[in-house]
Amino acid sequence: MNKLIISCSIIIAFVACREDHKKAQNEPEEESTYQEEYRPQFHFSPEEKWMNDPNGLVYHEGIYHLFYQYYPEDIVWGPMHWGHAVSEDMVHWEHKPIALYPDENGLIFSGSAVVDKKNTSGFGKEGKTPLVAIFTYHSMEGEKEGRNDFQTQGIAYSLDNGETWNKYADNPVIVNGEGIKDFRDPKVFWHKPSNGWILTLVAGDHAKFYSSKNLKDWTYLSDFGKSQGAHGGVWECPDLFPLQIEGSDEEKWVLIISINPGAPNGGSGTQYFVGDFDGTTFTSNQKNPKWLDYGTDNYAGVTYNNVPEEERIFIGWMSNWDYARDTPTKKWRSAMTVPRKLSLHKVEDDYFLANYPIDKMGDLTSPTVINQVEVAAAATDTLQVEGLYQSEIQLKTTAKNFQLLFKNELDEVLVLDFDATNQILTVDRTLSGKVDFQEDFGAKKHVAPLKGLKKGPHQFKILMDWSSMELFMDQGMLSITEQLFPTSPYNTLIINNENGSEPIIIQSIKEMKSIW
Ligand code: FRU
Repeated sequence: MNKLIISCSIIIAFVACREDHKKAQNEPEEESTYQEEYRPQFHFSPEEKWMNDPNGLVYHEGIYHLFYQYYPEDIVWGPMHWGHAVSEDMVHWEHKPIALYPDENGLIFSGSAVVDKKNTSGFGKEGKTPLVAIFTYHSMEGEKEGRNDFQTQGIAYSLDNGETWNKYADNPVIVNGEGIKDFRDPKVFWHKPSNGWILTLVAGDHAKFYSSKNLKDWTYLSDFGKSQGAHGGVWECPDLFPLQIEGSDEEKWVLIISINPGAPNGGSGTQYFVGDFDGTTFTSNQKNPKWLDYGTDNYAGVTYNNVPEEERIFIGWMSNWDYARDTPTKKWRSAMTVPRKLSLHKVEDDYFLANYPIDKMGDLTSPTVINQVEVAAAATDTLQVEGLYQSEIQLKTTAKNFQLLFKNELDEVLVLDFDATNQILTVDRTLSGKVDFQEDFGAKKHVAPLKGLKKGPHQFKILMDWSSMELFMDQGMLSITEQLFPTSPYNTLIINNENGSEPIIIQSIKEMKSIW
């Protein structure tokens, strides 16, 4: 036993030593193949190292920007930079150099970006429209000294559509006067009615709103949420925007708030409020928390600014702070959700925010592998599907109770259990593959209520990638996002309709093309 420990420590020392040697000689690390074990094939992930929140989601001159919390030295969280990628369709991504580096004001935490079309900031030169990033500075020194005011807000601008960035010389633009420990994640948008900018940030257990005419001088407006919504953890990554209710002229404002911990199935999650914003104050008479996603792997999501068709497109970080640093990938850590279009619905006088993959994701589907399979009531069907681990599955049913099981030859299994009798949908990944890298990951089943859904037939879309599953019921009225780490790829789909009195129609199973 002792021998084993000794030899292990020698190996570790040797590996560490080799790593140092590599760095010292500045040898390039092996390039990403995007074929590594668990590498998502149609989700964004960085070439290497640690990533968390999406930041600065903005469209400008034909390009969708995706900035993200990035630590370029390790596959665990560390001093934050803004990584950067661009896309013309939000489906295929091109990696760009790091956009923002830490500076004397601190590390670069989460935030947003806007197109300053009217050059209100004065950063524009020679007719060039500035992109302005608004982010949180986190001062490590301040934190170490035991102060409470170590998070402030700063800005930077780019005159070449995000290629290069200049920090504003008079940063920070919002200081932390009250000394609030968690004071971060500014999301800014142009508010037409008041002809100015509105900024939302979070301050521990509530959101704060500010206004500005030039993105540099900010005036505090109001607070929201101390006594509303879920408060099981710190509020993070807010986003405020208007949405028209589907099928009506009514417009409401939606405030998205991420919270960690305190999500319905543990750890990190995203809640939302539906209400009104009058340019100064956000109000909502919503009593109970509402959740954007019932899986455990959709966090810190925010929406794009300046999208051409005025659609609300959301991207979330597909992980959870409970185990984000422990997931069994080696070269990189974590991925983003697919981009999802948000829509607002009124069901029996209550409002629900739906999220559903953007249509463009459909460009990735290959010709149908399986078409129109009907699983009769009181029957079970087993489908062998070679590309199941990288596929889109669509099904439709009025059945009240059924199960879908995704399996591999090692009998690792992911179980989705639809139970309309008890009004719940359960995801069981406890035996889905590698789960023991952290105690919470495979500890229990995840449960979602079937509230707010219209009467059947219900429609399901499931996106399976090498290490994730995204389920959307009824055009995203319910969504569940989960990471998975099967030891070998799932290739069998079992549709268990034993307890059903209605057939289940598997409309299609299509392989998804890789974006890399
Ligand atoms: C959310 C978050 C943000 C913060 C960032 C730091 O996941 O904690 O509140 O700005 O991550 O990386």
